[in-house]
Amino acid sequence: MKATKLAQGVYWVGAIDWNLRDYHGYTLPGTTYNAYLVVGEEKTALIDTCYPGFEEQVLGRVASIIDPKTIDVIVANHIEVDHSGGLPKIAKMLPSVPIYCTEVAVQGLARHYDTKDWNLQVVKTGETLDLGQKTLVFLEAPMLHWPDSMFTYLAEEEILFPNDAFGQHVASSKRFDDELGKDIALAHAKKFFANLIIPLAPKVLKKLGEVGDLGIGIKMIAPSHGIIWRTHAADIVTAYVEWSKGVSKDKVTIVYDTMHGATDMMAKALADGAMDGGLEVKVCLLKDGRYEGCHRSDIVAEMLNSKALLVGSPTLGDEMLPTVAGFLSYLRGLRPGRLTQKKIGFAFGSHGGHGGAVDQITDDLKTAGIEVVEGGMEVYFKPDTDEREACYRAGLALADQVTQM
Ligand code: FEO
Repeated sequence: MKATKLAQGVYWVGAIDWNLRDYHGYTLPGTTYNAYLVVGEEKTALIDTCYPGFEEQVLGRVASIIDPKTIDVIVANHIEVDHSGGLPKIAKMLPSVPIYCTEVAVQGLARHYDTKDWNLQVVKTGETLDLGQKTLVFLEAPMLHWPDSMFTYLAEEEILFPNDAFGQHVASSKRFDDELGKDIALAHAKKFFANLIIPLAPKVLKKLGEVGDLGIGIKMIAPSHGIIWRTHAADIVTAYVEWSKGVSKDKVTIVYDTMHGATDMMAKALADGAMDGGLEVKVCLLKDGRYEGCHRSDIVAEMLNSKALLVGSPTLGDEMLPTVAGFLSYLRGLRPGRLTQKKIGFAFGSHGGHGGAVDQITDDLKTAGIEVVEGGMEVYFKPDTDEREACYRAGLALADQVTQM
């Protein structure tokens, strides 16, 4: 195994997890656990590690540059197990190696591992570590995305190692944005942002402002997952600003499930109205994520740049369908209401008795911070011609509202 050179004395020494398809409910085409080796004139630093079981890849790539036993310093930007999982094995191999991390990380690492023999060194924003013609600068980034998170900046080469921020879940033989392709890389980054970063959007804008105020150059952004932004670093920063602000297209995402086709008829009539009103429309039939592109983690990526989200379910017993409830639970956790620009919502569905799903959906959308068009659309059993026409007109009215946002 070989390391990949980013700059003189700076290498990717991460691991590729080709087979990962589900990461706490996020569907993905594999991923990488990026670790980096910075070789200074006096010291060598390893930035982050990997998920447990991938240490051989990391150490094998390190060994293509130096003897791993000569690593002088480890930087732990983040304690989540996909980046800290290699620490027990590597700390055992390097018994007194200093591990630089935030104060919160010290506490968190002790909850995950037996750290009593580890040489943990707390760093704060602005503190530096001189490796000899290579200077690491630390920048605490609490809640981006865990309380322990930290960015590390390599001053001489102007490379930012922001851990999960700007990452993407993709497994590839390509290491750089220009190799994978800018549009593909941005699409993976958008899904990552939608599923992991939306609730932190105000903090992202604040942190990007702080980094901007430092006046430092950033030639390259080397995150802890996916490709390294060496040609399009400015583009991913711009995209993060736009996503955090909730900048959206004249687009609606329609999410629903159906029992015998009645709610499906409503969804399609709403879609026809929205399309005829000039909107881009994405229709997602939930069905437990069995349909390609309709897993909840794909849908929230569609929602991210949609101005409107329409959610439909029949009433089963007194409740919405479990598939829809699961999606809305996920959505509530993401809190799209924290994006600067708000989204509008609309609930619809059929029932065979006294209904209830539409009210429940409305409540959940409001909890998620979405401004719901009151009333929704609920029909008894199956929509008749007039009710389908009413759905179509509701789609047209939503299009009118969306295009004026
Ligand atoms: Fe927060 Fe990639 O872990």
